[in-house]
Amino acid sequence: MTHKDSILLKTLRKEHTSRPPVWFMRQAGRILPRYLALKEKYTFREMMENPKIAAEVTLMPITDLGVDAAILFSDILVIPQALGMDLHFPDSGPLFSTPLISSKKPSQLLSADASKLEYIYAVIDEIIAQKSSHIPLIGFCGSPFTVLLYMLQGLHRKSDFPDAIQFIYQNKRETKKIVEIITELSIEYMRAQIAHGIDMFQLFDTHAGLLPFELYQELILPHVTRFAQEARNTHTPFVFFPKGIGLGFQQITPEHADFVSVDWQTPLSLARTMLHADIGIQGNIDPRMLYSSELELHEYLETYKQFGTKHNDWICNLGHGFMPGLPLERAQQIVQWIKNTDWTEG
Ligand code: CP3
Repeated sequence: MTHKDSILLKTLRKEHTSRPPVWFMRQAGRILPRYLALKEKYTFREMMENPKIAAEVTLMPITDLGVDAAILFSDILVIPQALGMDLHFPDSGPLFSTPLISSKKPSQLLSADASKLEYIYAVIDEIIAQKSSHIPLIGFCGSPFTVLLYMLQGLHRKSDFPDAIQFIYQNKRETKKIVEIITELSIEYMRAQIAHGIDMFQLFDTHAGLLPFELYQELILPHVTRFAQEARNTHTPFVFFPKGIGLGFQQITPEHADFVSVDWQTPLSLARTMLHADIGIQGNIDPRMLYSSELELHEYLETYKQFGTKHNDWICNLGHGFMPGLPLERAQQIVQWIKNTDWTEG
């Protein structure tokens, strides 16, 4: 068996499989005890930049959780770094020393240096050398919108990014310029990840819900189409995660993505009726359900059984990434439940 026959890649091709595939957003790091032990010795940056350690963390969830795919251990904020911004990762979350809102014409401060991303391709090469051949590798980057918010605001703590949003409304033309700069470099980054052998690509737009959909449609969706087209040119499945987009799901078409990752706000069955029939669905377990008891989580998971039995094009995942502190056993329970459930119809 090669990784092309893996349950994830078959599902992405809409082929029949005996059960849904499962992986988790933010599965690499965060809740894994072996990762937390490494964090005692190294900073996040050190781990991400060292191919041996980054490959080790990338592959940890395969053994420690039993998931069907690995996702590259890196971060969406490597793009602002490669555009010349100075980034730190204290425990409180990412922090830029000079947020773009402190400048009148921030686009002039940015200058793309794609060579600053090369260490990540060394990480991908190392992962592929180490992983067993039937495990697919997922590559990713942030959507230009979520990345823009961090670049403008400069830090993560104000999670609704009030100053960044104000900047966008006050400086639409400059915003469009920055979005273009981010997109150009991110597409080049995606292309290189594909050339180095990733099997699926996911675009994370964690903060998509912070704009009215019409504005999101004007500023961001045309760029998402560019990613999707580029991925399609190389036959790489493309998954889009526009978190909090709500009724906007109705406007997402196969032009934007092969699969859409649905957030925990939207019931899967409702997402199914809103999304174009040719788009597959990934999601949307509420990660906070992992705080509940084994029995409560089991009952919650059972509500997914009908959907998974009926829909061949479903990838089991979370409706947003794991938060630090969630219990490992509950994550393992989800994978075990997927593997032990009878998915035949009837
Ligand atoms: O999914 C994975 O595990 C693969 C690697 C990955 C990381 N970040 C590693 C990371 C991925 C896919 C991301 C994406 C990411 N990063 C997003 C989009 C997806 C989402 O879940 O919202 C965003 C918004 C970021 C920005 C970011 N990076 C934040 C807000 C934080 C700090 C808060 C937190 O969640 O821990 C980070 C740091 C970060 N990125 C860590 C990891 C493992 C934690 C670093 C540590 O352990 O100290």
